[in-house]
Amino acid sequence: MPVTRQEHWNTIFTTKAEEAVSWFQATPETSLRLIRACNLPKDASILDVGAGASHLPDGLLEGGFTNIAVLDVSAAALAKTKARLGNTGSTVRIIVADLAAWQPDLTVDLWHDRAVLHFLTEERDRAAYAVALRHAVRPGGFVLIAGFAPSGPERCSGLPVLRADQGMIASLLGPDFDLLDAFEEDHQTPSGGRQRFVFTRFRRRAG
Ligand SMILES: C[S@@+](CC[C@H](N)C(=O)[O-])C[C@H]1O[C@@H](n2cnc3c(N)ncnc32)[C@H](O)[C@@H]1O
Repeated sequence: MPVTRQEHWNTIFTTKAEEAVSWFQATPETSLRLIRACNLPKDASILDVGAGASHLPDGLLEGGFTNIAVLDVSAAALAKTKARLGNTGSTVRIIVADLAAWQPDLTVDLWHDRAVLHFLTEERDRAAYAVALRHAVRPGGFVLIAGFAPSGPERCSGLPVLRADQGMIASLLGPDFDLLDAFEEDHQTPSGGRQRFVFTRFRRRAG
């Protein structure tokens, strides 16, 4: 029987040490820098989608942010985050959901995605992602999406990925999102490899 998305990712997060996965970052510096550039108040609602066991919430809590949610298809990934944060992270909301089918019940000032959109290789899944994003992000809110650039890897974690440039991401979001930043950057994997990423930051037009 084929392995579901949830099973695939739960297996990864239960069998591999966190530094053993190619996407690991001790501190997600570029994401944190781009979030600071949004000049959000400390009680802004921040959602990290496809969060995995990323250390982004740790950095956000250190920066004084108080309204953080993390979403992932893998409950095992989010359990790692919960365990690592302990009491410090008691206010971090955990959402176990598949972005290809998720109906948001929250409104956010910032949507952050590092390396999940690129796993949605089916057009209908990307369309569902965009619908969820548009439901969740308030007018005037920010969207930060990072994924493999056109010269990046073709696969990750044993799965095919869709490499994209800023134009492809912009057209998925639609005309009411203004592009504020876009650049490529190499991610150094824990095993010493390099992966080309594109980082984008958008702002939804107010009203
Ligand atoms: C490459 S990891 C990146 C994790 C994290 N953003 C980071 O930078 O460390 C991709 C993550 O996306 C999650 N994921 C994959 N497909 C998903 C989907 N359809 N809905 C929600 N999460 C998904 C996986 O469970 C995994 O945690």
